[in-house]
Amino acid sequence: MSKTLTRKKAAAKPSRKAIAKKRSSVALRQTPKQKLYASLVVQLLSLLKDEHDLIANAANFSALLFNSLPNVNWAGFYFLRDDELVLGPFQGNPACVRIPMGTGVCGVAAQQCETIIVPNVHEFPGHIACDVASNSEIVVPLFDGERLLGVLDLDSPNIGRFDDQDAEGLNELVTIFVAHEEGLDR
Ligand code: SME
Repeated sequence: MSKTLTRKKAAAKPSRKAIAKKRSSVALRQTPKQKLYASLVVQLLSLLKDEHDLIANAANFSALLFNSLPNVNWAGFYFLRDDELVLGPFQGNPACVRIPMGTGVCGVAAQQCETIIVPNVHEFPGHIACDVASNSEIVVPLFDGERLLGVLDLDSPNIGRFDDQDAEGLNELVTIFVAHEEGLDR
C-alpha cells in the first residue's frame, strides 16, 4: 500500500521564462506615460541611493521631474513649517515663498490631504499665480505616515496637462522619496 501523503504539493515555481513573459506583458499593457513614470522610479531610486540629505534629494528629484516630464514649466516642493507651506527646492521661475494652509492649489491640497489636479488654473478659486505661463497644475501631498510634510507641485503651460496617470505616477515617486528620507530629523 502506498504511503499517505500528508504534505500538500508545493505550487510549481514559475520559470525564469514565465516571469520574463509576465513582465513583458505588463510592460506591453503600459501606456507611454506609465512607462515614463516607471523609468522615473528607476532614476529616482538611483539618485537617492547612498544619499539621505533631504534638501539635496528634493533638489535632484525636482530636477529629474522638470527635465523628464514634457510640458512642465515648474516642479518643486513646499514644506510644512508652523502651519504654512514654505518654498523648498524647485526648478522653474522664482516662486512665492509662503503659502497659508487652505490657500491656492498647494494650500488646499495640503489642507485636504489629497492630490489635486487643476486642468485650468484660471478657473480655480484662489489660485496663486507664480508664473504667468502656467495654465494647469497638479499638487501631491507628502506624508510621513499620518504626518503631512508638504507638497510636490507641478505647473504646465498646457491646459489639461495632468491626468490620473500623472497623479498615480507622482504619488508612487513621492512615496519612494519620503520612505527614503524616513527617520531623518526634520
Ligand atoms: N500655483 C500654486 C502656487 C505655487 S506655484 O505654482 C509654484 C498655488 O496656487 O498654490
